[in-house]
Amino acid sequence: MSDPKTEKLKEMREKSLAGGGPKRVEAQHKKGKLTARERLDILLDEGSFEEIDAFVTHQTSDFGLDKNRPLGDGVVTGSGTIDGRPVFVFSQDFTIFGGSLAGGHAKKICKIMDLAMKVGAPVIGLNDSGGARIQEGVVSLGAYADIFLRNTLASGVIPQLSVILGPCAGGAVYSPAITDFILMTRGTSYMFVTGPNVVKTVTHEDIDFESLGGADTHAEKSGVAHIVGGNEADTLFLTRKLFSFIPQNNLEDPPVLKTDDPPERADDELNTLVPLDSSKPYDIKDAISRIIDEGDFLEIQPEYAANIVVGFARLGGRPVGIVANQPAVLAGVLDINSSIKGARFVRFCDCFNIPLVTFVDVPGFLPGTGQEHGGIIKHGAKLLYAFCEATVPRITVITRKAYGGAYDVMNSKHIRADVNLAWPTAEIAVMGPQGAVEIIFKKEIAASENPQAELDKKIEDYREKFASPYVAASHGYIDDVIQPADTRQRLIKALTLLDGKKDSMPPKKHGNLPL
Ligand code: HXC
Repeated sequence: MSDPKTEKLKEMREKSLAGGGPKRVEAQHKKGKLTARERLDILLDEGSFEEIDAFVTHQTSDFGLDKNRPLGDGVVTGSGTIDGRPVFVFSQDFTIFGGSLAGGHAKKICKIMDLAMKVGAPVIGLNDSGGARIQEGVVSLGAYADIFLRNTLASGVIPQLSVILGPCAGGAVYSPAITDFILMTRGTSYMFVTGPNVVKTVTHEDIDFESLGGADTHAEKSGVAHIVGGNEADTLFLTRKLFSFIPQNNLEDPPVLKTDDPPERADDELNTLVPLDSSKPYDIKDAISRIIDEGDFLEIQPEYAANIVVGFARLGGRPVGIVANQPAVLAGVLDINSSIKGARFVRFCDCFNIPLVTFVDVPGFLPGTGQEHGGIIKHGAKLLYAFCEATVPRITVITRKAYGGAYDVMNSKHIRADVNLAWPTAEIAVMGPQGAVEIIFKKEIAASENPQAELDKKIEDYREKFASPYVAASHGYIDDVIQPADTRQRLIKALTLLDGKKDSMPPKKHGNLPL
């Protein structure tokens, strides 16, 4: 017979592991959702989870809560490893008070965040919660604020990933919003500040949970979700994959992996990827997948502002952040949403020492009252500002158009890019040939006997002189014009060269990013 103290511990442990009990676990499964612990089993390396605070309970006695003090207080917290690398985790347990956040629950989350900051390890939060625990009132609100503050102080020091696997409503959405990436699950997760009922009362709109704040809504319309999984296991695998590209903290480099893809691999298909007619689209993702290691690209926000492509890949085993104009969508033009998307991604990479590789094919900023009145000036400036302040290794490849202000913005030499390359198809100019000729030769063309022939001739002259990489190269704004087939080899060489790069910002409290 074992001693009573051991029995007591066993009993307490079992109680804690049982969460809200079999009925609520069954209800969770019926909704297509996993339990807090099942999720951690998928997210973390097998057997690596070390739990803390399993015996924490709430301290409230109102509303009959004195008779209901479940162990763990609705959240499972601790540490584990992903691919052998340490990570701190919290996983809200919907089977206990709907995963609602209260004083004890929040203290557990704050404890692992504080530890993560001391250790210099990332935090991953698995969110599934009815929001502030109603019975605890203002204590729950204060507890949320304790987390928001820590999210903000940790921003740029340790990576923070938020995985949404159930409801995330009210002010609760602001913790994930401050973190670096939000991953959602199609069909079972939703995020909104005010739910369908309040929306109906205030604006008389009829809308369901999914359309208001489901994964697809946030992936396509709001841009709040960075990655969407088809089910929970898929979302958690994608979280592991995202994790593989990022370092432990802002003082470390991201993990380099071995690759069988030869660094010198040339790809002749790239030589003909850009159509001869510069008004014809092509898919920049074809170029990206042909250049990177094993064609393995983790795209971020693929369905939002698809005129810019951002995501993670490896070159010669080193993680890089890729930012690319997408000529196949809106001709790759920069607009409000694509500028914000690009800027946020550039700033993440810069926080965490991930080199930036930029592919440029951009006709300029999108004209129109919608854009001007929507603030394209301040939003476009975000992308410019983000590139200007980035001190990580920065490489640019201009594949075709680099026109106007967008040339400057897209990681040009002038704003501290380190290696700037161009394909022979590059056209680097103030604007496209037709627009330029119509302005500077307006009178001459009008006075000509055959205006159309004169226009065509002037366009051809302009194209010959300016719509190429060689004027920019003659000024040293482009370091080299390369065969597209050799892009992989050149990028890997440049990254090796830039490995020891040191650059910094002038001392300041912080800059004033145009918000
Ligand atoms: C206490 C809660 C709770 C909450 C759910 N529960 N939300 N308990 N506080 N906020 C409990 C339920 O009483 C129930 O307990 C169990 O969790 C499961 O809830 P169900 O309603 O049965 O589940 P479901 O049908 O899936 O609906 C989930 C839900 C709904 C949509 C999340 O529970 C809901 O609307 N909850 C209230 C959401 C809300 O208004 N929260 C406050 C938001 S304001 P039993 O014992 O029956 O299993 C906010 C401010 C934050 O969060 C501010 C931060 C600055």
